Amino acid sequence: MTTVAWIGLGAMGGRMAGRLAGAGHDLVLWNRTRSRADDLAARLSTGGAGTSEAGAGGTGGSVRVAGTPGEAVAGAEVVFLMLADPAAVRAVSEGPDGLVAAVRPGTTVIDMSTIGPAATAGLRESLPGGVTLIDAPVLGSLAEAESGTLTLFVGGPEEAVERQGPLLSLLGAPVRVGGTGAGAAAKLVANGALLGVVGVLGESLALADDLGLPREVAWQVLARTPLGAQAERRRAAVESGSYPPRFALAMAAKDSALITQAAGRELRLAEGVRDWLADARAAGLGESDYTALLAHILSAPARSATDATPVRSVTDAASGKPASDAASGKPASDAASGKPASDAASGGPTPNAASGRPVSDAAPEVVSVAGAPHYQWGDGCDGWRLADADGLSVIEERMPPGTAEVWHLHERARQFFYVLDGRAVMRTPGREAELNPGDGVEIPPGLPHQLANVSAAELRFLAVSGPTTRGDRITVTQGVE
Ligand SMILES: NC(=O)c1ccc[n+]([C@@H]2O[C@H](COP(=O)([O-])OP(=O)(O)OC[C@H]3O[C@@H](n4cnc5c(N)ncnc54)[C@H](OP(=O)(O)O)[C@@H]3O)[C@@H](O)[C@H]2O)c1
Repeated sequence: MTTVAWIGLGAMGGRMAGRLAGAGHDLVLWNRTRSRADDLAARLSTGGAGTSEAGAGGTGGSVRVAGTPGEAVAGAEVVFLMLADPAAVRAVSEGPDGLVAAVRPGTTVIDMSTIGPAATAGLRESLPGGVTLIDAPVLGSLAEAESGTLTLFVGGPEEAVERQGPLLSLLGAPVRVGGTGAGAAAKLVANGALLGVVGVLGESLALADDLGLPREVAWQVLARTPLGAQAERRRAAVESGSYPPRFALAMAAKDSALITQAAGRELRLAEGVRDWLADARAAGLGESDYTALLAHILSAPARSATDATPVRSVTDAASGKPASDAASGKPASDAASGKPASDAASGGPTPNAASGRPVSDAAPEVVSVAGAPHYQWGDGCDGWRLADADGLSVIEERMPPGTAEVWHLHERARQFFYVLDGRAVMRTPGREAELNPGDGVEIPPGLPHQLANVSAAELRFLAVSGPTTRGDRITVTQGVE
């Protein structure tokens, strides 16, 4: 029998640890919320059969609860991690009471959390020599965790993976996909496909609604497409509006952000799904099952006719019809720029391209730093809000020498930083770009970053964000995701 430390006893981890205990392995449990570990230990020690988180139920080996992650791993031959996200893995790894400080050479760490390849590489680098890391994130949910029928995407040295085969097989079917990090990569690929399909299903049903097709007809149509099986599987939940939590939507949103961060290129569909999930989480669905994304997409307000048909040409204010150029019959726009022609040329007020209101109602206002709302942040830094709408924020900022933002990311906002004066350094995980006056850099949503003024002179720059970053800022540690 093997002495196993199990760290992370959430919905998945509790069930999986229960299976190892049921097979007679000696378990040392640790969980951030200690009561979860105590409850599981009590259930396993008293037989545990029939309890939802006890997996196979019962134990032939010993079960005890440790006070710290370090204490849990100190005497273990194998350490399992089943944690929420990269931050959780760092939290249990670092510090004097953490895994890294206490793990002994010869131990194998098996990380089954979904954290992506970058955080997996970070964990491997932090482990002392002689400790082997296997990444084995899982496909399947609570029922599969309980019955030991998960699919495990396993990355790690072949010999180590083979040695741990019997333990892994208690949890499901191990599929070795390559060296350390390959399991984490495989899991992102799998979830990219799973989450994408749910997003496409939601949008397909929404389109059917918008086009006036009865839902019954929409299901029949989808049954004849490659979405057929997924539509069939999700139909009951959509019809009942009940999405009992198995895989929390907040976790799916985390995975979606990991996918777009890890990709070496623009993945437009994945970015769309990530944005839907971030919206759904912001709307309070984080604790629901991830398939509640379907309800969120279906409940999104239909666009108004004005939104659906953006005004791109001059409108005759009196008739509401597009005004035409008398000679050509074409809409009276500036042919070179594509912008609407002026009032003088059309004889009527020009609509604002975004709002459709006549410009006389939405007259452009000149803003300047001198009159813009001002705020102070960080260590003596200033910001002036030049534009402050939901869809667009433009801020001029000033940072004294030697100051830096804290590492953070925005889940929804895409940003563009443009240096006006001085020299900036933009840091993203594993990269650092120097920006001089006239240089800019775009930061997509989900990417951890830190702007710093490492020069001896003052830095002034513009931060342009769409949508606004208000209420959309997550502090991260050193941006190592
Ligand atoms: N649920 C599924 O269907 C499913 C399927 C496949 C893969 N996964 C993946 O499996 C992992 C676990 O999922 P789950 O459903 O079991 O999630 P969960 O029920 O939310 O459990 C998360 C675990 O992480 C711990 N944790 C969170 N933040 C922490 C921190 N900062 N420091 C220390 N511990 C922290 C939690 O401790 P507390 O108890 O103190 O909160 C809990 O033990 C995730 O990576 C998820 O993406 C889940």
